[in-house]
Amino acid sequence: MNILIQNGTIVTSEKSINSDIYISDGIILQIGNSLDINDEIDKTIDAAGKLIFPGGIDPHVHMHLPTPAGFSADDFETGSKAALKGGTTTLIDFVTPHKGQSLIDAFIDRKSEADKSFCDYSFHISPVEWTNTTEQEIKDCIESGITSFKVYMAYKDSIGLDNDDILKVMQIVGEAGGIVTLHCELGDEIDDLRNELANKGNLSSEFHPFSRPDYTEAEAVRSAIEMASIANCHIYIVHTSCAKSIDYIKKAQKDGQVVYSETCPQYLILDDSKYLGDFKDTSKYVMSPPLRKKKDQHALWDAINTGVIKTVGTDHCPFNLEQKEKGIHDFRMIPNGAGGVEHRMTLLFTYGVLQNRITYNQFVDVTSTQAAKIFGLYPQKGEISVGSDADLVIWNPKAENTISVANHHQNCDLEIYEGIKTIGAPEFVISDGEIVVENEN
Ligand code: URP
Ligand code: ZN
Repeated sequence: MNILIQNGTIVTSEKSINSDIYISDGIILQIGNSLDINDEIDKTIDAAGKLIFPGGIDPHVHMHLPTPAGFSADDFETGSKAALKGGTTTLIDFVTPHKGQSLIDAFIDRKSEADKSFCDYSFHISPVEWTNTTEQEIKDCIESGITSFKVYMAYKDSIGLDNDDILKVMQIVGEAGGIVTLHCELGDEIDDLRNELANKGNLSSEFHPFSRPDYTEAEAVRSAIEMASIANCHIYIVHTSCAKSIDYIKKAQKDGQVVYSETCPQYLILDDSKYLGDFKDTSKYVMSPPLRKKKDQHALWDAINTGVIKTVGTDHCPFNLEQKEKGIHDFRMIPNGAGGVEHRMTLLFTYGVLQNRITYNQFVDVTSTQAAKIFGLYPQKGEISVGSDADLVIWNPKAENTISVANHHQNCDLEIYEGIKTIGAPEFVISDGEIVVENEN
């Protein structure tokens, strides 16, 4: 398809310019003000008054994640459609083998699930145990182009690894020039706190945040940084939620260590007051790490603004109320996670750009460009330049919405952003050169 986009303002992580864009066969072919086009144009879009961003990249989603409460509610089909509606054209999900399964076999299985995706996608791959073949398996993955490995310091009874094994993973990955992404929470300490609360009869969802206090995240961050320094490995810390973690990350970056950090809209916009109320209203906020305090939100916005936090992902992992109800009598049984892939860009635009916390260019940087750079997708993704993939969002900066379970596209009957007002939404979303969303705003 040949598409000409005229009169818009192109916004990249570096600059904002008024320019036309011509795309053909999925690639950006020309950018400029008097384009020389000899082909027949299939569609001309007048983008006057609109912003043009590179398609969003969400580096942290869990579609169709198996849990004891069933699969997370969005599969690759429903989740990717919701992502596109919100302007995200690339997803990075996870390959989580079951014990005894090789990383490559798990990757092949996961790829067959992800084939249903309407977005482009790639994966982080998770060693969930250390066996005598793990080293070779990691090397095989790197050879076949998978360079990001995710380890969990929490969930010790299922997919979590001990520090000894994490260090081994870091050593192999570091040597091969890959990256280790980490879920930083002290698993053993959290298990003790959860059981202590339960033994005292504190079983309702309001106790979830008390079982995962900020220091259990920050101390895990500190320890991950220390291991990465020993292993000489680049690391990426997912869903950073609190000020104490930021302090450790900032110090490591100042010391010259390669430590990337991600946060998520829920930690920027929602706080722990959401855990007060009845089960239906509070259990949807049961996620790990939990929502924090207002002071943590300020630290996170500041960290984005100063470049300490590089990306905003969602950790999209929604569950329906019926699934959350598995833990109605014991918060330890509530499946952890919530949706957000559809709302990431509009929330960042409304509460970041329009509230002068970040610039338009920083918005593009954290929602797209940095994820592409960190995870090896740049400059095909995350950029608007000649030769890049034609993944573009034509953004109406004035479109107003109120987020609700009644109008969202995520396949879930719960919505953690219920009632939250947003300004700014995609009018067109173009993925690999095809118009995949045309919204009436
Ligand atoms: O609560 C969360 N974050 N659920 C998704 C799985 C994970 O821990 O990332
Ligand atoms: Zn996650």
